[in-house]
Parts: sequence; C-alpha cells; structure tokens
Amino acid sequence: MQILNPVSVAHKLIQEQVYRAEILVDATAGKGNDTLYLAENSLATAKIYAFDIQELALRCTKEKLQEKGLERKVTLILDNHANVKQYVLRGVDVAIFNLGYLPGGNHELTTTIDTTMPAIEAMLQLLNVGGVVAITAYPGHESGKREYHYLIDFLSNLPVKNYTVSCWSMINHASTAPVVYLIEKVRS
Ligand SMILES: C[S@@+](CC[C@H](N)C(=O)[O-])C[C@H]1O[C@@H](n2cnc3c(N)ncnc32)[C@H](O)[C@@H]1O
Repeated sequence: MQILNPVSVAHKLIQEQVYRAEILVDATAGKGNDTLYLAENSLATAKIYAFDIQELALRCTKEKLQEKGLERKVTLILDNHANVKQYVLRGVDVAIFNLGYLPGGNHELTTTIDTTMPAIEAMLQLLNVGGVVAITAYPGHESGKREYHYLIDFLSNLPVKNYTVSCWSMINHASTAPVVYLIEKVRS
C-alpha cells in the first residue's frame, strides 16, 4: 500500500505554514479535498479562497465543507485563478495549485499554461515572506505535459535571493508520474 502520494506529500510540505496562516488560497478547488484540508488545519480565524471554473467543482467543495461545518472559513469563487488579484486583496501565506482536470469530470476543462503561468506569477506577487505555494503537476496528459515543461523552466529560474524551490517525485515510477513543487518566498 502506498501511503505517500503527491496530494498527501503536498499537504505535508505546507503543514507548518497552514497551521499559522491567515490567508490561504486553493487555486483549483476540484472535488474540494485540498480546500477541506486547508480549512481543517488552519486557524479558526483564517480566511480561505477557493477558485474553480466549474460550478460542479464548487458545489462538491461546498458540500464537503458543510459536512464538517467549515463553510464559513471559505470564499468559493467561480472564476479563473489567473484573476486571483481581483479577489484576494491581502498577502497570501499558503496557496495550492493541484493542476489538471476534475477527476471523473470533463477532461477538456483542464488547467493550461495560458492561465496557470499568469496565476502562479500573480500568486508569487501576493505571497508573504515565509509563505509557500505547492504545485502538483500531471505530465501524464497533453496539457499537463506542456504545463510541466513551462513550470520547470519558470521555477528553476526564480531568483534564489527571493525564492527557494524544491520538488518531490517518484523516481522509480513512469517519467509521466505527478510531480510536486514547493516554492517558499524567502525575501521580497
Ligand atoms: C485536479 S482538479 C483539482 C483537485 C482538487 N484540488 C481536489 O482536492 O479535489 C483541477 C481543477 O482545476 C480546475 N481548473 C481548470 N482550469 C482552471 C482555471 N483556469 N482556474 C481555476 N480552476 C481551474 C478544474 O475545473 C478542476 O476542477
């Protein structure tokens, strides 16, 4: 049985920051698992923004939060995450991008470089010093492969005086297995 998977690893990597975060963003709400994780593990006073372009995803997310009585902590936003600055007006402590498409949903409605890259750039501008962004990329499908290549290029060129970027991957799995990146802002 595999205990560590990309989603659980992304959660573990940001755990310490989530505990003390005031502003958190789930850039791709999907089925709501990441939003629920942020809501369950953050301060009672924390504010969470969850984006998705699909109503179905936000409905799923809302139901998960309601089951745990956590819906008041979360603002659900039916919009492209590239527009994050229109909604999040304060510095961000933690953000998650779990890229790709809604599992069991329409695979055409997937994240793409055209919006993922501007969204990540906007998030880095919003990120507080000490804040983190976790990104899970899925190179196993066409759009995911393009994102993966853009991400490697972009992330490996972030200035080291401002950011530390690390990555986690399953090196004995197929080369198309998901990869988790963690960006920490060390200086503004
Ligand atoms: C892999 S799923 C996210 C999984 C989710 N975080 C969870 O815990 O279940 C990716 C989601 O990104 C959404 N998405 C695709 N493009 C987007 C965009 N430009 N802005 C916001 N969400 C987007 C899709 O609709 C899909 O629900």
